[in-house]
Amino acid sequence: MPRGSLENHLFRRGSYFQPLSWNLRMKVALGAAKGLAYLHSGEAKVIYRDFKTSNILLDTDYSAKLSDFGLAKDGPVGEKSHVSTRVMGTYGYAAPEYLSTGHLTAKSDIYSFGVVLLEVLSGRRAIDKNRPQGEHNLVEWARPYLTHKRKIFRILDTRLEGQYNLDGAQAIAALSLECLSYEAKMRPTMDAVVTILEELQDSGEAEKRQGPKAGTKQAPAAAAASASKSSRRLRRRTLGGTKETTVGPNPKPLLARSR
Ligand SMILES: Nc1ncnc2c1ncn2[C@@H]1O[C@H](COP(=O)(O)OP(=O)(O)OP(=O)(O)O)[C@@H](O)[C@H]1O
Ligand SMILES: [Mg+2]
Repeated sequence: MPRGSLENHLFRRGSYFQPLSWNLRMKVALGAAKGLAYLHSGEAKVIYRDFKTSNILLDTDYSAKLSDFGLAKDGPVGEKSHVSTRVMGTYGYAAPEYLSTGHLTAKSDIYSFGVVLLEVLSGRRAIDKNRPQGEHNLVEWARPYLTHKRKIFRILDTRLEGQYNLDGAQAIAALSLECLSYEAKMRPTMDAVVTILEELQDSGEAEKRQGPKAGTKQAPAAAAASASKSSRRLRRRTLGGTKETTVGPNPKPLLARSR
């Protein structure tokens, strides 16, 4: 694919890979979400199993295409699950219940989607051993900041240089937290994720038409003060379904394809 993968754009440094703008990040997230929603749909009924930034490939206009179906699994997308003896996937993206029990459901993909959203938001890799102690695992490090909407500045990618929409960033943080729920059934469906991302994109477009607010650099306090009604509604919706319960602290390592 002409523009390589989302991974390259988010994490590679160099003149060829310019940092992705906020709007492009949102476009890619929506495109990838639609791809996953299609796979989960009645038409395809596939669990993708290896959703991550290197498998999201980008066309010239940044439309997202999912690659690598080597691990995809036909079949039960609802509450039923596969039980694998060998846990596959990529460490850092796999859902805790899949790691600990081998139970694979579509909700495992939703967890991985939450990890990717967090990478999009933070510009940090799911697993990065080069970071200081306590910051190696992105989800573990970011979770406390995601639960407080005033703390999300701490995880936002500095390469955005403040060029983001605060309401949008808070809504994405809330959505990723929901996808990362420890309890699989608390995670949204991909269809719900697509709806939320579409609404966000629509409200971003509307704000762009109305004035300088969207995508402009502004002091956090000023941006917070001007939070629009529509995105407040969005945040309520995405936060509404989130209920956290803790599972064991150290999920078992992956047996295969781990990094
Ligand atoms: N058709 C393609 N166009 C552009 N880049 C690609 C294409 N296919 C793969 N890549 C890129 O090549 C690199 C290697 O891909 P590969 O699929 O072998 O490994 P991976 O995605 O890192 O892990 P996995 O094997 O789990 O999918 C990745 O950076 C990937 O994004
Ligand atoms: Mg790949």
